[in-house]
Amino acid sequence: MKQIKLTFIGGGNMAASLIGGLLADKLPAKQITVADPATSTRDSLARHFGVNTEADNVTAAVGADVLVLAVKPQMLQSVAEALASAVQKDRPLVITIAAGIRSADLNRWLGGETGGKIAVVRAMPNTPALLQTGATGLFANAQVNETQRDLAESILRAVGLALWVEKEDQMDAVTALSGSGPAYFFRIMEAMETAGTQLGLSAETAHLLTLQTALGAAKMALESSEPVGVLRERVTSPGGTTEQGLRVMAEQDIDGLMAQVLKAASDRSRALAKSLGETK
Ligand SMILES: NC(=O)c1ccc[n+]([C@@H]2O[C@H](COP(=O)([O-])OP(=O)(O)OC[C@H]3O[C@@H](n4cnc5c(N)ncnc54)[C@H](OP(=O)(O)O)[C@@H]3O)[C@@H](O)[C@H]2O)c1
Repeated sequence: MKQIKLTFIGGGNMAASLIGGLLADKLPAKQITVADPATSTRDSLARHFGVNTEADNVTAAVGADVLVLAVKPQMLQSVAEALASAVQKDRPLVITIAAGIRSADLNRWLGGETGGKIAVVRAMPNTPALLQTGATGLFANAQVNETQRDLAESILRAVGLALWVEKEDQMDAVTALSGSGPAYFFRIMEAMETAGTQLGLSAETAHLLTLQTALGAAKMALESSEPVGVLRERVTSPGGTTEQGLRVMAEQDIDGLMAQVLKAASDRSRALAKSLGETK
């Protein structure tokens, strides 16, 4: 990413995580500019990371090669419309991390229908990105070239795994699986902790055993080339304890339950995208 000028619009949690990851990847701080209305946010980013800061979005956007839109989804339309002339003039790659905003809506707000279509990458990171262990789904519109694709991927890889989807509607599945996924695992951990205490463990012991087991299982699965189903079978001895636990999971139709969980989240993602994309 030599000589690339990267501008973040919005300097909140996700922007700070991405900046932290990019600096750890040796991107020089002087190539990064952050626009945020709050003086305290700008001061803190400048102090922590040594990046350039700006109060005005348009001033920050002028001359950028990559513009990362890191404001809340509800803010994106007004932010994008105010940036339209600068974007139409400089034609940077625009990356949006705002959940649920479709590339065509963003393109319209950036003047893409009258001025010319803008290269847009939609990225859906998840909360562990704040600890550089995120999982991000990426979608590129037809205007994004190979160099820009590589750029977008290396920016999001700074906070964890980054994978491309080919069709934009797959971003609803990404949102349902990895976007909302941390909460599902937290919910399962809560249930395991409660069940552990009901069997006589202290709350602290149940908590720590649950968390370490989740971490260990994820690490084993990541480091193995075998499907998770094979790993499961390998730790399930016939007539043993795990087999009895898994029998109950099957009787309660764990597969059907997870299918319903993801379907509900995906339907909601689609509905939110539709309502956020309706021009006010
Ligand atoms: N956090 C996550 O795990 C996560 C995961 C996936 C996607 N995302 C997406 O990432 C985006 C940012 O999330 P976040 O958690 O970083 O939110 P955040 O901490 O609230 O950051 C947004 C920042 O934008 C600033 N801002 C508000 N209005 C602005 C404007 N007109 N121009 C420039 N900056 C403005 C906010 O300032 P004020 O605070 O002063 O309003 C704040 O500093 C969201 O769209 C969210 O959907 C986040």
